[in-house]
Amino acid sequence: MSESNALQGSRAAVQDSAFLRACRGEAVPHTPVWFMRQAGRSLPEYLKIREGIPMLDSCMMPELVKEITLQPVRRHNVDAAIYFSDIMVPLKAIGVDLDIKPGIGPVVANPIRDRAGLEQLRPLEPGDVSYVTEAIGLLVAELGATPLIGFAGAPYTLASYLVEGGPSKNHEHTKALMYGDPELWQELLDRLADITAGFLKVQIEAGASAVQLFDSWVGALAPNDYRRSVMPASAKVFDEVAGYGVPRIHFGVGTGELLGLMGEAGADVVGVDWRVPLDEAARRVGPGKALQGNIDPTVLFAPEAAVRAKADEVLDAAAASGRGHVFNLGHGVLPSTDPDALTRLVSYVHERSAR
Ligand code: CP3
Repeated sequence: MSESNALQGSRAAVQDSAFLRACRGEAVPHTPVWFMRQAGRSLPEYLKIREGIPMLDSCMMPELVKEITLQPVRRHNVDAAIYFSDIMVPLKAIGVDLDIKPGIGPVVANPIRDRAGLEQLRPLEPGDVSYVTEAIGLLVAELGATPLIGFAGAPYTLASYLVEGGPSKNHEHTKALMYGDPELWQELLDRLADITAGFLKVQIEAGASAVQLFDSWVGALAPNDYRRSVMPASAKVFDEVAGYGVPRIHFGVGTGELLGLMGEAGADVVGVDWRVPLDEAARRVGPGKALQGNIDPTVLFAPEAAVRAKADEVLDAAAASGRGHVFNLGHGVLPSTDPDALTRLVSYVHERSAR
């Protein structure tokens, strides 16, 4: 086969993969599995390769990104790779002064709390993140039949870091802006929606075959506030990438009361944390959408029999939901998780769900 034929062959195999089939709600040979934060601090090979390289620098090194993205695929036999990056990368790329501090998380030098602060946010051009295009090109060539998931932070979660200046428990400055100056808030979220959509487009055009929008902290909002002040911006992101036909996954934590609206915002797959069983989630999410989740990440610290029992519970609830199901945790892998527990879980889910 010539190289282009080989590439075309793997593209067809990716489209027929268990992961993409489940996202589309089609029959699958087994339930596909991947883990949020599957690449990262739980893997010794990751810690070794990242030694001495600051987080944001590592995201701009295509060969390194390729290697880190592939590590969990080789080790765990997961059904999808997720591009190694961070939700703050596109903001850094347009010149926002920010850093990722070890043990703390993203820290922003000049928090955005007034109109002048907005000037830090210009649209993202593909050339701002050429290292992403390059890394995804390298990855797709090596991944063969394994799909690559691209991702970005959703407008609310990005705004929470930009307005607070760093991680925050109560989001008080963010909510003060949302309630106190709706016009400025809308403009902030609208700019973030454009940046996020631009970042997802770069990833899809480079070869990502699904995308996940991480609205990790949106569970802090009541449904009415979400609908009024956040949903239009997230919907804009989904709308902007709808034309590519790649599955769009929408995930947040503590979103039991928001699941219906998060589906309505335009997702094809709704990610569910561990607080809502998947059959109940299916009742809350509109029809025709697949579900992703939702084992509690801390369950992996329990003995294997307990992990299997929880996996059974998730698989049974997913079967009862009648929806496409992508097996995942309800949030990211915790850093001190035993990587072997993850490998065993993947193989258990594959065996138990084989049809
Ligand atoms: O395991 C690792 O932590 C790897 C390296 C790393 C990432 N981000 C990769 C990443 C580190 C140190 C960060 C910093 C960071 N950024 C933190 C962690 C702070 C800490 O030290 O505990 C946080 C919370 C952020 C902000 C962020 N990044 C959020 C809220 C999200 C969405 C996912 C979530 O956890 O809710 C990200 C995305 C992100 N950062 C991913 C990775 C590998 C997501 C892609 C994936 O699921 O693999």
